[in-house]
Amino acid sequence: MNPFVFVLFGATGDLAKNKLFPALFSLFKQGLLGEKFYLVGFSRREIDDTIFRQMVRDFLKLTDENPLWQGFSKNIYYQNGLFDEEKGYLSLIERLNGFDKEIGACISRVFYLATPPQNYHSILDRLHATKLSEGCGQGSSKWTKIAIEKPFGKDLETAKALDMKLSQIFEERQIFRVDHYLSKETVQNMIAFRFANGIFEPVWNNKFIDHVQVTFAEKKGIEKRGKFFDGVGMLRDVAQNHLLQLVATVTMEQPRSFAKEDVRNARVAAIQAIACIESENVAENVVSGQYEGYLSEKDVDSSSVTETFVAMKFGVNTPRFQGVPFYVRAGKNMPANVVEISIVFIQTCHILFKEMGCPEIGNVLTIRIQPDEGIRLRVIAKHPGAKLALDTVDMKFSYHEEFGTHGADAYEKVLMDIFSGDQMLFNRSDELESSWEFITKILDGWKTGKTKPVQYSSGTWGPYDAEKLIERDNRKWL
Ligand code: BG6
Repeated sequence: MNPFVFVLFGATGDLAKNKLFPALFSLFKQGLLGEKFYLVGFSRREIDDTIFRQMVRDFLKLTDENPLWQGFSKNIYYQNGLFDEEKGYLSLIERLNGFDKEIGACISRVFYLATPPQNYHSILDRLHATKLSEGCGQGSSKWTKIAIEKPFGKDLETAKALDMKLSQIFEERQIFRVDHYLSKETVQNMIAFRFANGIFEPVWNNKFIDHVQVTFAEKKGIEKRGKFFDGVGMLRDVAQNHLLQLVATVTMEQPRSFAKEDVRNARVAAIQAIACIESENVAENVVSGQYEGYLSEKDVDSSSVTETFVAMKFGVNTPRFQGVPFYVRAGKNMPANVVEISIVFIQTCHILFKEMGCPEIGNVLTIRIQPDEGIRLRVIAKHPGAKLALDTVDMKFSYHEEFGTHGADAYEKVLMDIFSGDQMLFNRSDELESSWEFITKILDGWKTGKTKPVQYSSGTWGPYDAEKLIERDNRKWL
């Protein structure tokens, strides 16, 4: 890899601590960052390189004696600055020029925005005004990249405005709109699983599929992320991006090829086909919840109506999925950590077996995104014994058992793809617009209906209304 500079805005934040620095360090350990690189943290805190290095060392739970850390830490720098004041950016330019001088060439630059989203406009404006966005001159802007974390906007209008700003400063090939779920091994595997195994294609449609469930559950609450989360909520934080992308992996048609735009085209078409829940139908099809105790979390408004749980039912307008309901739920403070997709097939129960009773639910294909990454197919089998009785059993594939790994970390993939300029697993504008259109209708419905989230106890699967949402269709959450 050629030398590069990685400027991280929001370098002392949660994402930097939990995901980005661990991923960078892991890439370094694997020797994937090349000979020379510069990691520059940019943040409000008034600290220097030394203190920042100590902070990163603690993020990574390492000691100064660790030889790998000694090698890695030499590449870490810090630039203090307010996001909306030019001063810090001007000092940053001097730093970056110094690196160029050291190498004797214009080094490619990556600007990574991992701050709370309300800072994005200010940062982009300053990058533009100070010409940082143009690289170090001599046509080097073509090597400059901008990566921007989700949530990308607050609704359709603000997402469009943000995109407009980005496109005024950068060319599309320089822009990386991050959704790290796209880079998860298990999510990428969906394409291989669906299209490389001919046996699933004939049954992957409304003649065989009864319904689809997606569950995104986290045992943790919002932890110390009140500043980020309050006012954002589950719908914007994970449904607009991660959940709709999971749905798209189930519903998308085979891409024409694995060329970047072909894959993105297939994904966009899948997102566009998700049937919007019109505002007047939101109350019936969307449930929002808030865990008890949320209002006393740090940095949360004491009268906040931000949802920490959401469940919804919607359809998908493609010939393959017409009439198949999708039930999707996501929550914090749930009883388990689990992200999975279940394809529940129509239970036919052959007439031969009717007398002895058939299991209520028959074949279910479950794709476990995390943890215990893998795939399970529930099938009906004869229960051992003299009597002919039926039971359900699972055929399982576990990544860990099979490959000795849980798959590469998503953020390592995100970063490597940015460094190598591969945009396939990043959102395109039209993709974002369609997902925001869907989410904004729900937000509008909540606004018109003055909807407040229903309280639920921590360690439960959200409000009872979420059970009713599926049970009224004579189905159950798995
Ligand atoms: C982030 C959300 O995008 O995804 C968090 O902001 C959420 O609220 C996280 O916890 C989950 O990611 P992962 O990779 O840990 O499942």
